Amino acid sequence: MEQQSFLPFPHGFLWGAASSSHQVEGNTHNNWSVWEQSDRRLSYLKRTDLITQYGKGNFISGRGCDHYHYFANDFARAKELGHNATRISLEWSRIEPQEGVFDQAAIQHYRDVIAQLKRLDIEPFVTIWHWTLPLWLSSKGGVAHNDAPQYFARYAHKMATALPDVHFWLTVNEPVIYADNSYLNGNWPPQQRNPFAYFTVLHNLLHAHRAMYQAIKAANGNAAVSAAENIVYYEAYKNKFINRIAKNVGDYFWNSYFFDRIKDHYDFIGLNHYFHNRIQLWSSRNENEKVSDMGWELYPEAIYHVLHTMKKYQKPVYITENGLADAKDRYRKWFITETLKNVHRAISEGVDVRGYLHWSLMDNFEWDKGFWPRFGLLAVNYETLERTPRKSALAFAKICKQNGLSL
Ligand code: BGC
Repeated sequence: MEQQSFLPFPHGFLWGAASSSHQVEGNTHNNWSVWEQSDRRLSYLKRTDLITQYGKGNFISGRGCDHYHYFANDFARAKELGHNATRISLEWSRIEPQEGVFDQAAIQHYRDVIAQLKRLDIEPFVTIWHWTLPLWLSSKGGVAHNDAPQYFARYAHKMATALPDVHFWLTVNEPVIYADNSYLNGNWPPQQRNPFAYFTVLHNLLHAHRAMYQAIKAANGNAAVSAAENIVYYEAYKNKFINRIAKNVGDYFWNSYFFDRIKDHYDFIGLNHYFHNRIQLWSSRNENEKVSDMGWELYPEAIYHVLHTMKKYQKPVYITENGLADAKDRYRKWFITETLKNVHRAISEGVDVRGYLHWSLMDNFEWDKGFWPRFGLLAVNYETLERTPRKSALAFAKICKQNGLSL
């Protein structure tokens, strides 16, 4: 008979899932929702076969999952699934719809959200900025505006004061990805391809992070604050010299750039991880044995290597995102299990990992890709808004409840 083994996780480990306001709340009115309906966006979609394939509605965030009204139900589901932590983000455009004018009803909404999580004994991780901007700020030039860091800090201070029960704060989500897609590749609003603006935006986000860190600490001295960064596992193909150089460039600009520059301004590491990149010069030579619905390689061992590189920061690590688009739920259970085996291995070798938040609690609006990628532990029927746990969600629930993996 086969012997069962058990991989225990540290006592108090945090288990759960993550989401962001624009992707799940529904009916937001920000620079993204306006962009989704803009002529430029619509004519791009018309030129591609995307609209034929998925329909126009796929690309408009609209009502989405209506998590804004369903949050109590969604967190109750998370609780049933054994989660003891959840990551959400605040929607700036609701909270400060006009410059300097804060909407008390919107702030109260997030107070209610946090109170609900606390009632369920679910530890909240709150992201202050997950990419969407109020229109007053985007019309001024958005993150590229000189005063952007102060605007971010004022908003952060307001919310850290309003939500004193939140311990874990994430200032900005994946600043490098944001700057890249919005200012270098022209994929996301404001669709620029301007290296100068790219560096301005990165620089402003560094300043914004530092100012937000201080603002949160001023409001709540006990808060634990970080940013969530997307860290890629780069390998040099065949370990060739030239590929090692390319790998180091990737490591520097993508992985280290942000955290290296915010020294003394983080209390933990917020790690988002999705990608493995075996570099040959400037292209990728991944084996792609298994890929997600979005064509991203599923390579769970990558997280083990990434976690080891986090040791240099000498802070606890919380995995604030990790997941896959998998509508048919073919790989999710396997992916979660293999990923967690690798997390366990890193922990047993001395990496101080204290939490794992899967992306995502429910299917949601995947930015410029729209609704078709299905990242959820809960499948969402966008017509009836019904949520149904996928099989993998139940397998993950078992891991959360027993604080470890049975193999
Ligand atoms: C982002 C999420 C996104 C996920 C999957 C992360 O980079 O923070 O908003 O949905 O990746 O693409």
